[in-house]
Amino acid sequence: MGKTWPSVLSALGVVAATVLLVLLGLRERAPAAPGPAEVARAERARPADARLAQRYEQACVLCHARADSGAPLSHHAPSWEARLARGLPALVQSVQNGKGGMPAGGLCADCSPQDYDSLTRFMSGPTP
Ligand code: HEC
Repeated sequence: MGKTWPSVLSALGVVAATVLLVLLGLRERAPAAPGPAEVARAERARPADARLAQRYEQACVLCHARADSGAPLSHHAPSWEARLARGLPALVQSVQNGKGGMPAGGLCADCSPQDYDSLTRFMSGPTP
């Protein structure tokens, strides 16, 4: 009897730790889904620079202003938080190389590395 209690307690500890990790994992993988107002805002917003706005309109906005595309919604902070934690250069690299459902270059054939950087800052930041 005296020997079983410690093992029961440590088994309970393992179960509790597992539940906690699963809950934390779920929280991280499922950022709050954007609502219709946030989608409408993403559809409307454009970079101030006309040349960038044109690139954004011809490429990025096709996926990044749609709730069901799997792409982080432009200007929706919860969708960008975990990504931004990896640092802006890593995100810009993903656009250039492609990632998941995003083709390399994000469908912008004539974007320069500087354009990708500016567009990523615009999209991952607050509504201008
Ligand atoms: C065909 C759809 C599509 C287009 C066009 C597109 N993206 Fe994406 N983008 C995605 C998807 C899907 C993801 C999520 C990829 C993943 O994490 O699996 C993504 C992710 C990103 C990320 C985050 C990358 C990371 O490492 O977390 C950035 C930054 C980004 N896109 C910027 C852009 C820019 C800038 C453009 C325009 C030049 C663009 N995207 C065009 C679909 C697209």
